[in-house]
Amino acid sequence: MKKQLILATNNKDKIFEILKILEGLDIEILNAGDFDDFPDVEETGGTLLENAVMKAKSVYEKYRLPCLADDTGLEVDYLSGAPGVMSARFAGEGCSYADNNKKLLKLLEGVPPEGRSARFKTVIAFTDFEGKIHTVEGILEGIIAEDRKGKYGFGYDPLFTVADRGIRLAELAPEEKNRISHRGRALEKIRPIILRAFKIDT
Ligand code: IMP
Repeated sequence: MKKQLILATNNKDKIFEILKILEGLDIEILNAGDFDDFPDVEETGGTLLENAVMKAKSVYEKYRLPCLADDTGLEVDYLSGAPGVMSARFAGEGCSYADNNKKLLKLLEGVPPEGRSARFKTVIAFTDFEGKIHTVEGILEGIIAEDRKGKYGFGYDPLFTVADRGIRLAELAPEEKNRISHRGRALEKIRPIILRAFKIDT
C-alpha cells in the first residue's frame, strides 16, 4: 500500500496546483474532501505561518498522517501589506474572488503603477510521520494592474502582473504558473523534505 499524505485544504484550485507539482511521487495524496470529519481549522492566526502550522498540526493530531498545509496572502505595499492573512475574506465573510478583486481595485483607484507594488507569499507547513513541523516560504513579486485579464488561475491572479514578465498570472497556463509562482516555489522547497520523510530516493 502506498504511504499517504494529506493536503489540509478543500480548495479545488490549490489542490490542482499542488497535485501537479507533487505528480509522479509514489505517495497517495488525500485532501480534506476525502474525510467526513475533517477538522475545520479557523484561520485565526495573525500570520500566514501561524495559520499554516495550526492547520498542519491539527490534521496530524487527528489522523497521525503526514500533512501539508499552505496559507497564502497577497501583500499590497500601498495598503501596508493588506489584504495579507485576510486575502480570502477581504471583501467580507463568504465573498467571491470577484468581490475581492473589485474591492482591491477600488482601494487602489488613482494610484499610479509605481505605487501598486505587491507580492504573493505562500507559507507551507509540513508535519512528518513523527509530527515534526517543517516550514518553507515562497514569494512572487508583482504589480496590481488596473483591470482584470487572463483566463487561468484563481483568486487575485487576473489583477497580478508578474514583475519581471509584464504578464498577468492569470495569463499563464497552470504548468507555467507553477514554475514561477509563490506556491510553486514553496512546494519546490518542501519537496525534498517530503521525499526524505517518505524515504523516497531521487
Ligand atoms: P488561503 O488562505 O491560502 O486559502 O488563500 C487566501 C486567498 O488568497 C484565496 O482565497 C485567494 O483569494 C488568494 N490566493 C491564494 N493563492 C492564490 C494564488 O495562487 N493566486 C491568486 N490568489 C490566490
